[in-house]
Amino acid sequence: MELVSPEGLRLNWTHQGDNRDLLKLLPDDSVALSIWSPPYFVGKSYEEGLTVGEWSALLHGVIAEHSRVLKPGGFMAINIADILAFADDSIPRFQADVVSTKRSVVTREQVLRAKAEHPEFNRHELAALLGCSEQTIQRRLDHNNVRGGKYKPQTRVKTVAGMLEDFALESGLPMYDRRVWVKDPAWANSRWHSLSYRAVDEFEYVFIFWKPGITKVDRGRLSREEWVEWGSRGVWEFPSVRANDDHEAKFPEELPRRVMRLLSEPGDLVLDPFMGSGTTGLVAAGLGRNFVGFELLPEYVALANQRYTQMLQGSHESDRSLDAEGQSGAA
Ligand SMILES: C[S@@+](CC[C@H](N)C(=O)[O-])C[C@H]1O[C@@H](n2cnc3c(N)ncnc32)[C@H](O)[C@@H]1O
Repeated sequence: MELVSPEGLRLNWTHQGDNRDLLKLLPDDSVALSIWSPPYFVGKSYEEGLTVGEWSALLHGVIAEHSRVLKPGGFMAINIADILAFADDSIPRFQADVVSTKRSVVTREQVLRAKAEHPEFNRHELAALLGCSEQTIQRRLDHNNVRGGKYKPQTRVKTVAGMLEDFALESGLPMYDRRVWVKDPAWANSRWHSLSYRAVDEFEYVFIFWKPGITKVDRGRLSREEWVEWGSRGVWEFPSVRANDDHEAKFPEELPRRVMRLLSEPGDLVLDPFMGSGTTGLVAAGLGRNFVGFELLPEYVALANQRYTQMLQGSHESDRSLDAEGQSGAA
């Protein structure tokens, strides 16, 4: 097995542990592209017990270590979102003088009937049919009439760009670019919107930082159509992962795929220090890149390595079956 460091960090594998410790095992100037999505500090189970100070220290520490492990001219791409309901007891409570308290007259029974009559309709179409909002449809289906966070601490929006930019700049990694990923609107996360003017959670960022050095620029990495459609566009639009049954916050493969196709080449080493379910590893392998992953939770480490192993088995099996039919030149 090839090693990327004298300490024996196995290549094309996800390693268990705290990424701040594991990053130390990577050699200097070894990573062409690091792509990751950290905890967003929005109350996921893997964030339990984390204070905001510990969360920002984690991001700070991981970013700082990138100034050593990235190759000169290499990139670090961070996928993250703003915190839309950041609890803060120190700010005054938002006092809503709600004038539109009348509930929609649409009942759960009407929604269920419409759904039965039009099983192919999505929430938007059902809402149009019944003359109500998509949120009303969602609430009727979920039996959820929560109208606001009356008993929860006051929240404010906390943006993350400035914090990441400061951490990176202080480590010698200027921000090179930023893109917005427009995902599925997360109506289910937005119960508190009914008493506010806030927008639904429907976009995230990809912040790209650069380690000074010579960067190969090869416009041939994408076709002309791809440059027009997304390569040179600031807004990317593709769906979120809808079945988060084995990990609660996977990013869709399309996200690391676009970043890798733009910012790396076959044979490059791609790092994901927050590997989760292994998405980055799968995409890297599919694009002929090498990867190293780090993940804190043993169950996700097992999942990531199992998905990768299955992918390899699958590709070997399809090579074998093509060989049997005499259609493949695979060695
Ligand atoms: C937003 S998820 C990443 C999901 C991943 N992109 C995917 O598609 O599955 C963040 C992950 O970071 C892991 N994590 C949190 N703190 C960590 C740390 N200090 N070191 C390594 N992994 C950590 C969490 O367990 C979680 O799986």
